[in-house]
Amino acid sequence: MQPLVGIIMGSKSDWPTMEAAAQTLDKLGVPYDVQVMSAHRTPDRVAEYARGAESAGLEVIIAAAGGAAHLAGVTAAHTVLPVLGVPMESKLMNGLDSLLSTVQMPAGIPVGTLAVGKAGAVNAALLAANIVGARHPEFREAIRAYRKDQTKAGLDHPDPRKE
Ligand code: RP5
Repeated sequence: MQPLVGIIMGSKSDWPTMEAAAQTLDKLGVPYDVQVMSAHRTPDRVAEYARGAESAGLEVIIAAAGGAAHLAGVTAAHTVLPVLGVPMESKLMNGLDSLLSTVQMPAGIPVGTLAVGKAGAVNAALLAANIVGARHPEFREAIRAYRKDQTKAGLDHPDPRKE
């Protein structure tokens, strides 16, 4: 199946965090592709990617960036596909700078912003699966199974001192 979700990130240094989004989509069986591109360093590539995303068959884009994190907003400006922003942890403010740069979009171009760091990466993948699940019911079933496993894992291991 061709990719339905595009995962993009501003730098290779974002991959250790964004790998969690890819792994989550793997668990759900949602096809995706991954590319590094930057709103600042490769702005033309970002515009080209975002403008071509719909015709490439993508249904959602997950965009991760840190610091002056413009990638999600710039991407959203070039496509009407839903764009989910994941703010990366940063040295200056542990990601608060990334969070505000991603979430504080002026009215007119929305970015659905998730939590900073790995939690945001995982939840962006789950939310992307929710979105593609509207057209592909098999992914809704995969989400139900994921949640069931998560609940079972919590109930099966209530003692934090034991595995
Ligand atoms: C952002 O700048 C990237 O998304 C990354 O989070 C941050 C730092 O990038 P590097 O200097 O590590 O390449 O554009």
